[in-house]
Amino acid sequence: MVGDMTYANQYRTTGGRGVPCFSCSFPDAPLRESYQPRWDGWGRFMESLTSRIPMMVIEGNHEIEPQGHGGAVTFASYLARFAVPSEESGSNSKFYYSFNAGGIHFIMLGAYVDYNQTGAQYSWLQKDLRKVDRRVTPWVVAAWHPPWYNSYSSHYQEFECMRQSMEGLLYQHGVDIVFSGHVHAYERMNRVFNYALDPCGPVYITIGDGGNIEKIDIDHADDPGKCPGPSDNHPEFGAVCHLNFTSGPAKGMFCWDRQPEWSAFRESSFGHGILEVVNSTYALWTWHRNQDAYGEDSVGDQIYIVRQPDKCSLQQTTTTSASSDNTCPSEGKCASPMSNSSRSGAPKVIRSGGYLLWNASVVIWMVLFSFVFRGDACSHS
Ligand SMILES: [Fe+2]
Repeated sequence: MVGDMTYANQYRTTGGRGVPCFSCSFPDAPLRESYQPRWDGWGRFMESLTSRIPMMVIEGNHEIEPQGHGGAVTFASYLARFAVPSEESGSNSKFYYSFNAGGIHFIMLGAYVDYNQTGAQYSWLQKDLRKVDRRVTPWVVAAWHPPWYNSYSSHYQEFECMRQSMEGLLYQHGVDIVFSGHVHAYERMNRVFNYALDPCGPVYITIGDGGNIEKIDIDHADDPGKCPGPSDNHPEFGAVCHLNFTSGPAKGMFCWDRQPEWSAFRESSFGHGILEVVNSTYALWTWHRNQDAYGEDSVGDQIYIVRQPDKCSLQQTTTTSASSDNTCPSEGKCASPMSNSSRSGAPKVIRSGGYLLWNASVVIWMVLFSFVFRGDACSHS
């Protein structure tokens, strides 16, 4: 679960309802604080699921919950209410950690704590990635709250600083898939690295469509008049690194004038996704809209994600520290960029060569919720 779970931080000021602009609607609110019964209600609401299915969480901006004198206390609910395998994964922080499930090594990163290359999280990430044994966990899936690649106006380029700091490291170690939330809509990216199509880059998926009191995000940054301004989309942690594109169709511009080529499919519907790992090289990702009746024909988006270890050589564990340069991890082995868009219907196979392995050995279901507790599900009166 990739953050923003209860919105308890706004409950006392908005009554559980979202507002288009929090600071505009509540200019005198000293703090967003936190309403703990909201967390309790959410826990009871989720119990039937979490009592049977293990759940891993990572913090979002609505878990910051600044409290106390001047907001000095942050993340108190997140830290007190969840147990995550930090120690087991060599992390000394509950804000970033990793774990294995089936054939996947999951990496949960913190976007609201130091992500710079001089910081503890980056150092831990380097060590964690070097330890991954692809014979045990062929797949590496990373998750954090705000997306790096996002063509919606909402939160556009908001965490560009984090991308610039960490993207090179994830790329060099062959991270296969990245899940994020924060944007209240669905979007799946083509394989991309540093805003250029790259068959060795991760598949980024924004699955922030679990349901939200602030409504669905519908505007795209490339829609006429919808390109955010420089004062929009400042992160609640870290610096602002907004940039104009230096190459491609959007060269010199902050926003594209059409759906960017790295954005494969986007839709403003609430829903959920299921990742099925078929074997060491094939995984099936399926996204469902909430408004569709559940069934075989209710697919909103579906693709096969294909690992190509022969095409995209991984950084060896014996190498020295990773840098964030933008070069292919295996020079000459990164094929030319390819489009891998798909719409509803039969899943498309995303690969640039190779072969099918249909000897399914392991199937792992992972339901990803970027769930936000609905304001009407357990309202406080
Ligand atoms: Fe968020």
